[in-house]
Amino acid sequence: MEFNINNICCIGAGFVGGPTMAVIADNCPGIQINVVDINTERIKRWNDEDLSKLPIYEKGLESIIKKCRGKNLHFSNKIEENLKVADMIFISVNTPTKIKGLGAGKASDLKWIEASTRQIAKNAKDNVIVVEKSTLPVRTADTVKKILNSQSEKNSRINYKRNFYVLSNPEFLAEGTAIENLQNPDRVLIGGDNEEAINALRKIYKKWIDNKKILQTNLWSSELSKLTANAFLAQRISSINSLTALCESTGADIKEVVMAIGMDTRIGSRFLEPGPGFGGSCFKKDILNLIYICDYYGLKEVSSYWQKVLELNSWQKSRISNLIVDKLFGTLSGKKICILGFAFKANTNDTRESPAIDICNSLLEEGANLSIYDPRVSLKQIAKDLNEDNTIDAKIGLDTGKWTYEESIFSAANEADAIVILTEWNEFKNMDWKKISIIMRRPSWVFDTRLISDLEDNNLFGINIWKIGYGI
Ligand code: UDX
Ligand code: ADP
Repeated sequence: MEFNINNICCIGAGFVGGPTMAVIADNCPGIQINVVDINTERIKRWNDEDLSKLPIYEKGLESIIKKCRGKNLHFSNKIEENLKVADMIFISVNTPTKIKGLGAGKASDLKWIEASTRQIAKNAKDNVIVVEKSTLPVRTADTVKKILNSQSEKNSRINYKRNFYVLSNPEFLAEGTAIENLQNPDRVLIGGDNEEAINALRKIYKKWIDNKKILQTNLWSSELSKLTANAFLAQRISSINSLTALCESTGADIKEVVMAIGMDTRIGSRFLEPGPGFGGSCFKKDILNLIYICDYYGLKEVSSYWQKVLELNSWQKSRISNLIVDKLFGTLSGKKICILGFAFKANTNDTRESPAIDICNSLLEEGANLSIYDPRVSLKQIAKDLNEDNTIDAKIGLDTGKWTYEESIFSAANEADAIVILTEWNEFKNMDWKKISIIMRRPSWVFDTRLISDLEDNNLFGINIWKIGYGI
């Protein structure tokens, strides 16, 4: 069976679907690409004339949208119509951790995958290639295949059995560098059991990626590799964060330790930056998923091994909020704390699983008044993240603190007792400490959880500084 791919439909215009389709459109001008989503507001923003209103901020994305939108890249809510004409369909919907029912707290919630697969089964034409882009538990392709095959016969619109070819093509892009990662990936993974279907997808990627970088595996290896890559990366961060605490206790210098181990080529120097804990939509979710699968197969030791990576990450966040309380004389009641950075990392407006959420909630519970500044995260988003915690609502009226949203570093730092740097935004690297020292209350503290500040230990401005991984 030879596939001719002239029309692609991608279900899900999120952090993965949007940028991925933009880069494919940019490199394959001969293919018409329709990105569809149920969220009308999101699609409206993808179509906004004002490119600064795109729902996702990624370097390089605006220029591709400007070049391709309306030509071979289209965003719409017309799901059925676009599925009907597609030769290849990408599933890029969200797969968060289940919050209730069997596997709650660990397993991925596949209801959006199932819903989109049913939409495909109902509308797609014959011989369509269905590509799983979302990160999924191992063997989800089986479920997708079963739904597609069982529906294909029942469909009243089309009364013949259609063939579907399911591929797994996980996305390894990191937010903030999405376009760069898509344009020049370390590797592209295609899992599947139909050679021609795999080649059809390979042909698309070959337009801009060296064929040697395009790996072919079976479906299950592809699905598991994605989970494992994220678990390994998260494990590195938990490992280095565990050592920040040890450095603080012993007087070893975390940067020196990182440099020393990173020069060992077997270990490598990347992904060893100490911080307040990993966030983002993938790491926690994928490890929980891995734990769930291990438990399912009775591999208790394996699941508890990965569980520890998550526990260390939670511990890092609570140890930071506890030590802030400790340094500020054991109480935050009535004190003003300036939070610099709310995104889970720099160069993104995404706050999913951001360590800032847990740290801010703990400080609020201690009665602190927070003034929060982040160059990209909106007031609406912060309100959503902080008010989601019911324990805070329940405690309002007791001694719970309040928070405000600030438009600049200076308004956030004004009259503050402490500044906590939580995201490594460039503008927090070199701040006007002289000016800041004048507007803060004394004794003033800076807690640098990302090791980015240029504020020296014994600075001329009389500010006390605590840096992660530095102690005694
Ligand atoms: C991650 C994976 O990198 C990507 O391959 C996958 O497709 C999706 O998940 P992302 O969540 O965008 O990407 O962010 P990443 O850059 O990996 O950072 C994740 C978290 O780890 C952030 O909170 C970041 O601040 C933290 N981190 C990262 C560290 O604390 N130290 C590091 O050295 C690197
Ligand atoms: P990711 O980071 O994996 O891209 P996002 O949450 O950013 O996840 O994006 C997923 C998108 O998928 C959302 O915009 C959501 O509205 C969309 N979506 C989920 N289910 C469906 C569906 N059945 N049909 C169309 N779009 C869907």
